[in-house]
Amino acid sequence: MRKIVSMPGDGIGSVVLTEAKRVLEAAGFEAEYVHADIGWEFWCKEGNPLPERTLDILEKHKIALFGAITSKPKAEAAKQLAPELQDKGYVYYSPIVGLRQHFDLDCCIRPCKTFKGNPLNFIRRGKDDIEEPEVDVVIFRQNTEGLYCGVEWTDPPDDVYEAFKTHPKMKKFSSVPKEELAISTRIFTRKATERILRAAFEHAKKFGYKSVTVCEKANVIRETSGMMLAMAKEMAKEYDGIDLWSTNIDAQMMWLTKNPENYGVLVSGNMFGDIVSDGFAGLIGGLGFACSANIGEDVAIFEPTHGSAPKYASYEKSIVNPIAMIRSACMMLDHIGETEKAEKIRGAILEVVREGKIRTYDMMKLKGSEEVFDKGAVSTTEMTDAIIAKLQ
Ligand code: NAI
Ligand code: MG
Repeated sequence: MRKIVSMPGDGIGSVVLTEAKRVLEAAGFEAEYVHADIGWEFWCKEGNPLPERTLDILEKHKIALFGAITSKPKAEAAKQLAPELQDKGYVYYSPIVGLRQHFDLDCCIRPCKTFKGNPLNFIRRGKDDIEEPEVDVVIFRQNTEGLYCGVEWTDPPDDVYEAFKTHPKMKKFSSVPKEELAISTRIFTRKATERILRAAFEHAKKFGYKSVTVCEKANVIRETSGMMLAMAKEMAKEYDGIDLWSTNIDAQMMWLTKNPENYGVLVSGNMFGDIVSDGFAGLIGGLGFACSANIGEDVAIFEPTHGSAPKYASYEKSIVNPIAMIRSACMMLDHIGETEKAEKIRGAILEVVREGKIRTYDMMKLKGSEEVFDKGAVSTTEMTDAIIAKLQ
């Protein structure tokens, strides 16, 4: 039987992951789930939110479902360490960022597709009436480099400072004391840029998207964005019938609500991909719906975009929407060639949303609390049950 690593993590992570597994089973997907520890509990108990044994399990089984983790700022994290681990030099870092780096999960894929009948869908004023544009966008975000690569300094060491000073544009900072300088670098490599572009074009080709948009800022950030755009132009020659568009991230965010239906596949570096994918996700229902995949050459991890929502984690009956996690599990099915089952599940979700009888609190635009059930919202489990019922 196929083995899938299961990393529930913290808060609502474990709630939604449990529900996704129920749906997978109901769709006829048979798997043995191998549990792997990750998250806050292991930071507090062991001083490591991503234990070595978890890396070993992933190394062995390659495919994982991940719920969400709780992250806290360094100082606060340090305070919550077990007494015997205090002041031993443990430093908190986000385990999901750690996973992306460790396994070089360099392609992040975030599909944003409108579910008809979702009250959270973006609407826009037309000439005479209200329009509800149908969004079908897939964002390919470079996941390991760029501005999130972690090469940064406050008060940089002398050799770094000297090296920076060789750049003509550093002149304008020459009067700034070194201690007052904070520098974060934005590094793109040709290899990773090639991989994310290739993944984007191949996806467009396979699923019939008419355009690939490089969403960067090539007119200003000439070296990194410029390299991505130039490489995309070269690559586009191999893809007949797919138009290459280029937008700037700032303008793209403005156009987001003007003509989101015009876009197909988007591809960006790490930070702009982060931004533009949240932007598009907001048009199709937000965090309760936004799914994602982190794909490397060897290992792939599927997770909802949302976090652990700690304020709802202790509710006896969970209120959160399981759809983002369930759709992430569908991406896992796609990845391992179980497309038919993935389509079946996506179809079931579409039907439940379109019917509009079963809605979690977010879909009713309610403020999250345990009172939402009195106002007609269903629980996480009831939403899952409704999706499963449509599979039968
Ligand atoms: P969050 O995504 O956990 O929650 C933000 C708000 O979105 C919630 O208050 C809730 O109203 C809504 N929400 C989230 N998931 C939902 C769902 N499935 N259904 C309905 N509504 C939902 O982000 P927040 O509050 O900024 O962070 C909470 C913790 O999660 C932090 O410790 C943060 O570091 C962590 N986090 C972890 C991520 C990951 O594991 N990949 C990603 C984002 C945040
Ligand atoms: Mg983000």
